[in-house]
Amino acid sequence: MKFVILNGSPRETKSVTYQYLRYIEINFPGNEYIVHHIGRKIKKIEKDQEYFDSILKDIAAADGVIWIYPVYLLLIPSQLKRFIELVFERKKLSYFQGKNATSISTSANFYDHLAHNYIHAISEDFGMRYYRGYSAEMMDLLKKKERKRLLNFTKQFIIQCENKLETAKVYSPLTFDYPIYKPLNVIMQPKTKKHKITVLTDALESDISLNNMIETFVKLMPCEVSVVNVNKINIRGGCLGCLNCIADNICFYPDEHMEIFSKYTVEADAVVYAYKTQDRYFTSRMKIFQDRSFFNGHRPVFKGQQQAFFVSGPLRQLPILREVIEAIPEIGRANLVGVVTDEYNDSKQITTLIQNIIDGMLWGIEHNKYTRHKTFLGVGGHKVFRDLIHMYQIIFPQDYYYYKKEKLFDWPKIFFGGFGFILKPLMRSSYFRKRFFAQAGKYQIKMYTKVVKKEEDDNNKTKK
Ligand SMILES: Cc1cc2nc3c(=O)[nH]c(=O)nc-3n(C[C@H](O)[C@H](O)[C@H](O)COP(=O)(O)O)c2cc1C
Repeated sequence: MKFVILNGSPRETKSVTYQYLRYIEINFPGNEYIVHHIGRKIKKIEKDQEYFDSILKDIAAADGVIWIYPVYLLLIPSQLKRFIELVFERKKLSYFQGKNATSISTSANFYDHLAHNYIHAISEDFGMRYYRGYSAEMMDLLKKKERKRLLNFTKQFIIQCENKLETAKVYSPLTFDYPIYKPLNVIMQPKTKKHKITVLTDALESDISLNNMIETFVKLMPCEVSVVNVNKINIRGGCLGCLNCIADNICFYPDEHMEIFSKYTVEADAVVYAYKTQDRYFTSRMKIFQDRSFFNGHRPVFKGQQQAFFVSGPLRQLPILREVIEAIPEIGRANLVGVVTDEYNDSKQITTLIQNIIDGMLWGIEHNKYTRHKTFLGVGGHKVFRDLIHMYQIIFPQDYYYYKKEKLFDWPKIFFGGFGFILKPLMRSSYFRKRFFAQAGKYQIKMYTKVVKKEEDDNNKTKK
């Protein structure tokens, strides 16, 4: 069998993920493995058409395509995203048509499912039969049990390729047929408030709806707004995963990213991320900006910030992107005020929704940086980060000190506290357990009714 491997890691052969492939190669020696280091060579791939075409030719002659990548900021690295964009832009989907595909990633299993779902959807868009991928925790290859699992996964993929087995389709093709957003009668509001507001965007001149959404926001917001366009700032390239930044949170690239990130996003009271969709995510240019924020480590520097997203494109058909949008503020302990898209036939509705975002942002800023409750996205995310930073405290010293100072190592306490010592042995008795559970519900509700009753009493007292 002939496999083409598309390696998204900018670390090329020094990549952790690549070692998983090497392990497979050694265990299945009868096959041919052609590796393309997309993550490292993306600039050459983009400029050198012949080189790009040679990759496509390899794909056309292959029995299977294996995407391998590290998870970067809830998705794949910007470089691999750019490669996917090139395939769409240059209309080269036919080279992938009918191939078998799968993926292997390494990560800390933090939102790895989104990266996998994205690659799954893209593989289907490319017309491939996608066999569900393998998401390894980065240390898995060091464990015997996990190595065995990896080999079994590979065996199954090879069977898949040999027999050209059908796979169930999960994603529908995308459509978008909404009119351009054209705001009417939007009057510039006096800039009476002093809050620091930023719009971060990747809009080109041709992105009329997105530019109009930004213009409406700038006009209606009663504060000055800084609009930062990631296409107009000096960003020299995507994150290379070199990890030089983690000791003191400084990226090695001599460009404007760090300054813009700190001055216009971290220090702002509110930020609107105004992006268009490209294939099933935002653009790779925007992803470069996101990936490069890794220099900041895992500290929730956006705590209490009011955030919103303006999206041009079919977001209602993009559950993966929707989850990213909802997860980012929760992970960062910011407040997601709302998401406005241009999926409306009536421009008036979009203007109203932008006004609602402004009202929500001001309300949040002026109410002690109000932040909505967290869901699993934020709660689960925090626990994974917390454990990771505790485990790798030598490697992430700045994160570790921050987590300690902010009391983010919030390990769970045993319910019933000290009583646990008495209750634990008693619970071994079935007689005691039965009596305990007969009363448990009542006691549980009693804790809540006590709080509610106290609130009622306090309110009655203040009324008097
Ligand atoms: C810029 C950057 C972003 C990352 N984002 C994530 C993430 O969102 N989720 C996760 O589980 N791991 C994340 N990681 C960890 C990598 O996925 C992990 O270290 C991976 O094994 C690196 O593989 P590689 O050596 O093949 O590039 C990130 C690492 C970097 C450098």
